[in-house]
Amino acid sequence: MKLPSLLLLSLVTTLLFLTYPYHTAALTCYDNIDPLNRNKHVPVECDNSKLGIRSSVSWMKTLRSWRPFASKTSKRATGTNAFKISLSCSAGTTLCAKVKNAFDLAGIMLSQTLSLSTPITVNATFLNFCQQLNQCASPGGYLTLGGAAPARTIPMKDDDQTIRLYPQALVKQQLTDQSVNFGPFDIVALFNSEANFWFQGDGGIQHTQSDFLFVILHELVHGLGFTSSWDDYINMTPEALTPDISTTTKGGQQTIGFTEYAFDKYMVIANTGQRMSEITAQLNQFSSGSSATTIQQYGRAFKSSPQYSLATQMFKYATTRGAMVFLPIGQTDISQGVVLETSLIPYSQGSSVSHVDYKKYTDTSDFLMRYLQDRGVSLGDAIVQGGNYSGGSIGPQLKSILESLGYATQDNPNPYRPKPSASGSPDIFVQSKTLILLIVFTTIFLSRNEWNL
Ligand SMILES: *[C@@H]1O[C@H](CO)[C@@H](O)[C@H](O)[C@H]1NC(C)=O
Ligand SMILES: *[C@@H]1O[C@H](CO)[C@@H](O)[C@H](O)[C@H]1NC(C)=O
Ligand SMILES: [Zn+2]
Repeated sequence: MKLPSLLLLSLVTTLLFLTYPYHTAALTCYDNIDPLNRNKHVPVECDNSKLGIRSSVSWMKTLRSWRPFASKTSKRATGTNAFKISLSCSAGTTLCAKVKNAFDLAGIMLSQTLSLSTPITVNATFLNFCQQLNQCASPGGYLTLGGAAPARTIPMKDDDQTIRLYPQALVKQQLTDQSVNFGPFDIVALFNSEANFWFQGDGGIQHTQSDFLFVILHELVHGLGFTSSWDDYINMTPEALTPDISTTTKGGQQTIGFTEYAFDKYMVIANTGQRMSEITAQLNQFSSGSSATTIQQYGRAFKSSPQYSLATQMFKYATTRGAMVFLPIGQTDISQGVVLETSLIPYSQGSSVSHVDYKKYTDTSDFLMRYLQDRGVSLGDAIVQGGNYSGGSIGPQLKSILESLGYATQDNPNPYRPKPSASGSPDIFVQSKTLILLIVFTTIFLSRNEWNL
């Protein structure tokens, strides 16, 4: 090869290298903006690997840190509290001390069931919903006791090559490199100081009271990822269910599509045995043909698409008792699945789907994730009524759901792990560019030697 052509080749390659977007990896996470509405979130950039080269380095680190048989179990102490609660409470020192104590108890209970290697951080606020949030109970209506949600969800690639949104609390247990920019909190929670709460040590619980510990334990489990994305994101009056409608960046281009949460991977239609993820894939056939640039536009176009009838069919399932089941990982017998709450008529946003069937699980060891909590029944009472389950308030079915999501437990120390979603094509780009540069420079170096000789 002659020198001028070599120079030209290296010049062209360098130009190509420079003009290509160097860092094409972009990771979009979602931050919850309202703990009382788990499906309300905003996109945030959360890629922590600022440079392309770092991105491939961290990708390799990720591979190393995602050892399937990593054994951290021995270091985990049971009985300790892996939950770090930042409590903001303006209800007076006595009441706030009881609230704090209940959070500590809930944290200890969850830490006994789950083997948590990384502490879970909770931003908890105890405030008067009516006075401070202008959310007042309608006369004779229910008072909202509280709510919690994953503070940030992170896209991860599942073993079916589908990207789903995983709660930060879980991703933190599994992903130990620095590739994802985590938010300061894993769970956001709001509790209503106006509610008639009962606390441990208050004497007998009154029939009008709700056990605060019961409420926060239930809500923390939502914050850990017991949350389905299936909801109506389009209509004011719900009539059609889809997974979350989200904007993602694919190869530098913005696309809008339906994205499931981790929980949704295990949802099955009881009478047909069909995985709900298959329906999501069919719904996304609409997405791939859509040119909508806003979620509103997308929603309008979806309503007049042939796929819309699938969504209205899903709504029918969500209002038919026993129609939806969570089939834990490894389980194939649908009759062994966890029946989800699809008996509420009308459909109730937040209560329908993301809970276990109220009737089926009352007076069982899996009472905790029912949408309603009976007043006058303390957590201790519910455990006794459920048959004194040895695992306490986290029943065996609930435990299998948390294990399916990927939480380690003593019985299941090596749970399923999804892969980081940012480890796909962008890194291959970076690596191939690095390779081309290497070849060019080696060629130059070798040819120089030739000329020098
Ligand atoms: C905790 O969450 C509340 C809203 O739920 C928010 O107003 C507050 O700023 C958060 N606290 C911190 C320290 O981020
Ligand atoms: C559960 O325990 C309580 C007291 O701790 C006892 O009265 C009750 O009989 C027990 N129930 C069952 C089903 O074992
Ligand atoms: Zn709930």
